[in-house]
Parts: sequence; C-alpha cells; structure tokens
Amino acid sequence: MAEFCLETERLVLRGWREADIEPFWQSACDPEVMRYLLPMAQRDEAVQRYHAQTAMQAEHGFCFWVIERKADGAFLGQCGLCPPRYQFTEVEIGWRLSRHAWGQGYALEAARATLGWAWANLAAPSIIAITVRVNEPSWRLMDKLGMSYFPDEDFDHPAVPDGSPLKRHILYRIHRPEA
Ligand SMILES: CC(C)(COP(=O)(O)OP(=O)(O)OC[C@H]1O[C@@H](n2cnc3c(N)ncnc32)[C@H](O)[C@@H]1OP(=O)(O)O)[C@@H](O)C(=O)NCCC(=O)NCCS
Repeated sequence: MAEFCLETERLVLRGWREADIEPFWQSACDPEVMRYLLPMAQRDEAVQRYHAQTAMQAEHGFCFWVIERKADGAFLGQCGLCPPRYQFTEVEIGWRLSRHAWGQGYALEAARATLGWAWANLAAPSIIAITVRVNEPSWRLMDKLGMSYFPDEDFDHPAVPDGSPLKRHILYRIHRPEA
C-alpha cells in the first residue's frame, strides 16, 4: 500500500517508518517535550507506538502522522488524527513536536493541513482536541486553528493516574465549516 502523504508549504505529513522510532524516542526522553504528557520509560514503548500508529493508519486511513521538513527531511514530530477514544465520540486532532521544531509555526502549518484533510476525507461533523490547562502552547494552537474551548466539558483523563497534576483536562472543538 502506498505511504500516506500530505504536503504543506514546508512540511510533509506521512505514515510512520521504522527509522522514525529513534527520533521519536529521543523526543520522548526530552523533559520539556514531555512536560505535560505521560512519561515513556522504555524504548520499547516507542516501538509499540510505531506499531500502534501503523495499525491505526491501515485501519482508519489516518493516525498521528510523522512531520518531516521538506528542506532537509528532518523528523520534526507528529501531528494528525485519532479515532474516538475514551468517553468521546468525536475524532481527535493532536500534535507533539521535538523541541528544536518549536516556535516556527510548524505545528500550526501541520494542524491546519490535518483539519483540511479531515474535512475533505471524513464525514466527521466536528473534531476535538484535549490538553491540560497549563499547556498554553497547545491550547494557543487550538485557538489559532479557530477551535473553541468548552468549559462545561473539562474532564479527568482516564489514562492519567489519580492524583497526578495532569489528570484534569480541557476540551476544545471545531465544527465542520459550512460548505
Ligand atoms: C504544542 C506544540 C506543538 C506547539 O508548538 P509551537 O511551535 O509553539 O506552535 P506553532 O506552530 O503554533 O508556533 C507558534 C510560534 O511560532 C512562531 N512562528 C514563527 N514562524 C512562524 C510562521 N511562519 N507561522 C506561524 N508562526 C510562526 C509564532 O510567532 C509563535 O511564537 P510564540 O509562541 O512565541 O508566539 C509544542 O509546544 C509541543 O510539541 N509541545 C510538547 C508536546 C505537547 O505538549 N503536545 C500537546 C499535547 S496536548
């Protein structure tokens, strides 16, 4: 099957390759990248993530794609979609960039392309994004994408241990633009 590929001005969003495991694991070892995320203790978990994302792409036609910079082929991180999970019934958009790729508008560029792809290729009437309130770079990105915060839908993330400061999450949503 041909590899998924979505191009923007500076980036390619594509399916995962085995060679992505190492830079993904390196970024999972960076405390700044992981500040608001559940820690990854073993490299094996990065390998499992690679298999899970590859399986998701095969089953659904999307996943949290790898972001590659066109200019030099560098691995910048992930941005993409995830089918409804936990208590949700809506497709989720998400992002995680390696620290060297922050502050250059790459996440915004990748996320805009992801939303555009979703509206063109999925029947989803809306898409959600979730994060912890203190993850300002992430919710600022949601704002920039035109997503709205739904204050009545704050929730305790089921995958986060009780008592963790990362337990409480906020939810943003965007509705399919009018045709
Ligand atoms: C959340 C995350 C993806 C945001 O990345 P980011 O690089 O800050 O986001 P953007 O792509 O929107 O870039 C924004 C910055 O790039 C600057 N920028 C530079 N060139 C730009 C361009 N051509 N276009 C747009 N913005 C540009 C903007 O001015 C802005 O700077 P500012 O933050 O000082 O105002 C990143 O912080 C991250 O990966 N964090 C760790 C993982 C994580 O927490 N993921 C989310 C889990 S919910």
